[in-house]
Amino acid sequence: MMKKRVTIVLSAIASLAALWAIGSVVWGNPYVAKGRQLYNYYCAGCHGAHGRQNEGYNWGHMPDPRPKDLSAKVEMSTLKDEEIFATISRDMKDTTPEVGDKIGDDEFAVPTMPTFKYTLSEEEIWAIVAYVRTLHGMKLQVDVAAQKKALEDALQKAQQAYEQSRQVAEATAQPVANAGAAAEPAGQDAQSPEEVALKQAQLALANFTARPKPAPLPRPDLTVSEEAAAKQAELAKRLYMNKYGCNGCHRIGEEGGIVGPALDRAGFRLNPTWVYRWIRYPQSMKPDTRMPNLGISDPDAKAIAMYLATLRAPRPDKPIERASN
Ligand code: HEC
Ligand code: HEC
Repeated sequence: MMKKRVTIVLSAIASLAALWAIGSVVWGNPYVAKGRQLYNYYCAGCHGAHGRQNEGYNWGHMPDPRPKDLSAKVEMSTLKDEEIFATISRDMKDTTPEVGDKIGDDEFAVPTMPTFKYTLSEEEIWAIVAYVRTLHGMKLQVDVAAQKKALEDALQKAQQAYEQSRQVAEATAQPVANAGAAAEPAGQDAQSPEEVALKQAQLALANFTARPKPAPLPRPDLTVSEEAAAKQAELAKRLYMNKYGCNGCHRIGEEGGIVGPALDRAGFRLNPTWVYRWIRYPQSMKPDTRMPNLGISDPDAKAIAMYLATLRAPRPDKPIERASN
């Protein structure tokens, strides 16, 4: 009798514990689940499903330095959450010849780790950091939900302040309207401080929760002299390798990754205007593409589009004959 009761109590405790364990996985940090999805989609090809070296299908095809081990706790624990965030979300530098930074001169300096700053929302990137933490048995310390709540609260406050100021403005504008004068709608284009603050609060929340959406691109003018084109092709090769790390995902000849298609016949297959649009904003043509928007500037995109137009390798199914020139 006694023994049976103990068993019941014990099994009740056991099932409670199991429930709690499941609960903390499922509800504990919803960001981890979201981050896992995103990681598997965008990162695992290079970093491996568990973050280990030579686990992802692209790992062995990448140029050096290849991805380090994200499951290595000793090394990864030296990085703060914010540092991991910054790695995934770095800014592209301005490398305009003469006035900008040198190509490859970057705090992070490994161009084949693509930035996702221009592709995913901040909230999604935090979710990815939360998941990356689990790969080496740690937990995200940053409270993402609280950050989001603070932005939502700030927006609500800004909205209230704006409403109030509008009511006051309307009340004071009343007599003028009644006078029936050819009343210019006063202050229509000048924004009140409350309106400016409201727009800022809206933008801050949108940046946090929504993926970046660049404005539609104008048609690029890709006409240049032959001499300028040759110069640009040289520059573009360096942008391709050392700034944007296109070779981490694309192959030219024997070298480069296999996340995207080989580009050595791009000159035959692809129209430079199309390439320009694609590389500046791939998601506008294919929302779910694995190719990130790398924040390519207009002149860089032009140079790279023209460089790709020069790639005219022979068909791979034909015996490769080395061109004599
Ligand atoms: C095209 C291949 C590629 C893709 C895709 C990629 N990475 Fe990387 N990643 C690299 C390379 C190369 C490095 C630099 C070598 C290193 O430090 O591991 C790197 C570095 C890192 C580091 C820094 C590790 C350290 O020790 O400082 C983190 C963290 C990271 N990547 C996370 C991610 C996440 C998360 C994603 C997806 C959102 C991702 N990477 C997508 C190739 C890639
Ligand atoms: C993280 C990997 C990744 C990086 C980095 C990357 N790409 Fe891509 N790229 C892809 C994938 C994947 C596709 C296939 C698009 C699809 O169908 O979603 C693609 C498609 C393309 C295409 C179209 C190819 C075709 O045959 O249709 C071009 C051109 C291209 N990329 C150029 C570039 C250039 C230039 C860079 C560097 C500025 C670059 N890519 C960086 C993954 C990447």
